[in-house]
Amino acid sequence: MTSVLVLYYSRGGHTARISRCIVRRIQQQGLKCEMMDLLEAEKEGINWQEWDAVVLGACVLYGTYDKSVFEFCRKYQSQMDANAISFFSVNVVARKPEKRVPENNRYLQKFIELSAWKPKDVKIIAGKVDYPSWGWLDKQMIRLIMKITHGPTNTDAVIDYTDYQDVDAYADHLVRLVSAN
Ligand SMILES: Cc1cc2nc3c(=O)[nH]c(=O)nc-3n(C[C@H](O)[C@H](O)[C@H](O)COP(=O)(O)O)c2cc1C
Repeated sequence: MTSVLVLYYSRGGHTARISRCIVRRIQQQGLKCEMMDLLEAEKEGINWQEWDAVVLGACVLYGTYDKSVFEFCRKYQSQMDANAISFFSVNVVARKPEKRVPENNRYLQKFIELSAWKPKDVKIIAGKVDYPSWGWLDKQMIRLIMKITHGPTNTDAVIDYTDYQDVDAYADHLVRLVSAN
């Protein structure tokens, strides 16, 4: 049975939620598919032989990604080069359709620039604004980012910008990619 492992870094749980949607959609098409967060992958290790394909997703935090994401790609570069078929970036700037185009999204460009593993396939997914779940400083900082990018600045706002149909379409695309390999 063809198998896909979705690795993810999520700080507040939204990238985990998106990963779960991808996993379910891939499973519905008869493939074996599981998800694992990077911390668990780092602690428990990955049996790379078990998976025909690996996908990596991460949320954007202050214009970049958690350093564990880059460390993972550096440490497992050869395995990622051999097995990883796609990278997805979750960020709220991508609530604007033009920012979901890889060439227009500097966070995606930043990943490609800084990561030892250079993904051949990429996807940008709009994330979630969730002011109530953020601490005071994060709230102020993100409010500033939102002000600059004309997003919501009301600190009660909880807005899920993710297009779940598009997430399904991405999962279908991953199935086609792994099937073609
Ligand atoms: C501390 C922090 C910093 C963030 N910085 C950015 C940013 O620079 N640009 C952006 O588009 N989104 C930014 N976001 C929004 C997140 O990418 C978005 O909320 C995402 O859905 C979070 O995913 P998670 O719940 O998996 O951590 C930030 C969120 C947090 C909590």
